Amino acid sequence: MRILQVSAELFPLLKTGGLADIAGALPLALLNAGQDVRVLLPGFPAIAAGIRDAVQVAEFSAPWGDRVRLVYGRIETPGAPDIPAYMIEAPWLYDRPGNPYEDVWRQPYGDNHRRFALLGYAAAQIANGLDGLWHPEIVHAHDWHAALAPAYLAFAPPTGRPRVHSVFTIHNLAYQGLFAAWNFAELGLPPGAFSIDGLEYHGQLSFMKGGLCFADRITTVSPTYAREIQTPEQGWGLDGLLRARSGVLTGILNAVDDQVWNPATDALIPHRFDLRKMVGKSRSKAALQQELGLAPQTAAPLFVLVSRLTEQKGLHLVLGGLDGLLEQGGQLALVGSGDGWLEDAFRQRAAATPESVSVQIGYSEPAAHRLFAGGDVTLVPSLFEPCGLTQMYGLKYGALPLVHRVGGLADTVVDATLEDMDSGTATGFSFEHFGADGYARAVRRAFSLYRRAADWRAVRANAMRRPADWAGAATQYLGVYAAALA
Ligand code: ADP
Ligand code: GLC
Repeated sequence: MRILQVSAELFPLLKTGGLADIAGALPLALLNAGQDVRVLLPGFPAIAAGIRDAVQVAEFSAPWGDRVRLVYGRIETPGAPDIPAYMIEAPWLYDRPGNPYEDVWRQPYGDNHRRFALLGYAAAQIANGLDGLWHPEIVHAHDWHAALAPAYLAFAPPTGRPRVHSVFTIHNLAYQGLFAAWNFAELGLPPGAFSIDGLEYHGQLSFMKGGLCFADRITTVSPTYAREIQTPEQGWGLDGLLRARSGVLTGILNAVDDQVWNPATDALIPHRFDLRKMVGKSRSKAALQQELGLAPQTAAPLFVLVSRLTEQKGLHLVLGGLDGLLEQGGQLALVGSGDGWLEDAFRQRAAATPESVSVQIGYSEPAAHRLFAGGDVTLVPSLFEPCGLTQMYGLKYGALPLVHRVGGLADTVVDATLEDMDSGTATGFSFEHFGADGYARAVRRAFSLYRRAADWRAVRANAMRRPADWAGAATQYLGVYAAALA
């Protein structure tokens, strides 16, 4: 099957969150399954720098008139095949400081509607034959940044060739790509596309609705989240539309890229380990405590947190519960960046008790790997979580996840109750009601289990054995593509 994956980020070139991990791993899994896959990315500097042997494929005009170049090359990935990649070259749109979406003051760029409409527009152009040598049968667009691809496809004039079908994946419904209505006029779509059955959302222009209304199939990143977004509580005003389209909506759980996240082969951690040889895990913990200036106590459970620091992630529970965690003899190590008030609050806690709290503000891939390798417990108490990847990395690295039972967290972590420990299915700690009480009880449960060394080792072994490979998820995506084509 010829498949074009469309996303704004892709690991290892550019990453602000889990979307990049998935956008990097899914094409590889599909290539390994023998499929003909290419990706399409905006020409952000980090992406332009990472595309090898780039050649110009075509020039075309954006709907608002800019002349844009499409180039084609390949992305090298360690230990895996190259990913064939198209890139949109439009430096006046993409070559800017800050992250892909915001300027250095964390304000969304004023022309984001153009910057990301162009991504969907280019995808539809490729589908309609812009590259004379290759065109896809399936366009698979990820998140609001790419969500206009299905809309442009739906309104494209007939080409005489078989119609190209589209799949849209929601990684996070909370980010919808909302813009003032007047921006619609620039997009080159017919006026009818701006309706309640199209891109109009309470008088605004919604990119997310482009994917939800016009894609042949919709997926999201866990089965539980697929159900949750059909409820008013988690539907962000789109639950009615999602219920109406529930027949074409599937939840496919994300997986873990074993080339990047495997404690037995990870070059970013000081001591490698696997289930048969766990000494590397305790050595990694000791090395981490030393590196971070934490007290060198083997007996202190080390809680780790790798996260964007935003409301979604439930971090006020961690701040509120920190005294209790420290009183019970635990330590906390965090790497994260995001909202200023959360960064400041965590910094202050580290300054007050540096021997038991370490806080690294910023983004660091190596630090993240060392935290999972050295940690005993991975904290993910998110208010909502479409899938979540850090709890899966925690499972693989034997840093038992402690999670709020929502979304993908509910689908990946089994609470260490007596019965689930007996049946060998327990893999971590989860709490039902989002609040200080539920969180505190889960933390106490982690301490209780930690004191029972044999039980801890058994649960940790369950966690590390949990299958998380991409082959299964890739098969499910192929099923969705086949359904879209039919
Ligand atoms: P989200 O996409 O909502 O941020 P996920 O759990 O799906 O949440 O993915 C987060 C990804 O970003 C993981 O790969 C995690 O390791 C990484 N990450 C988040 N913050 C940091 C950070 N400060 N440094 C390094 N990696 C980070
Ligand atoms: C989003 C979600 C996260 C998910 C990731 C990858 O960023 O917030 O839960 O794991 O996408 O699908």
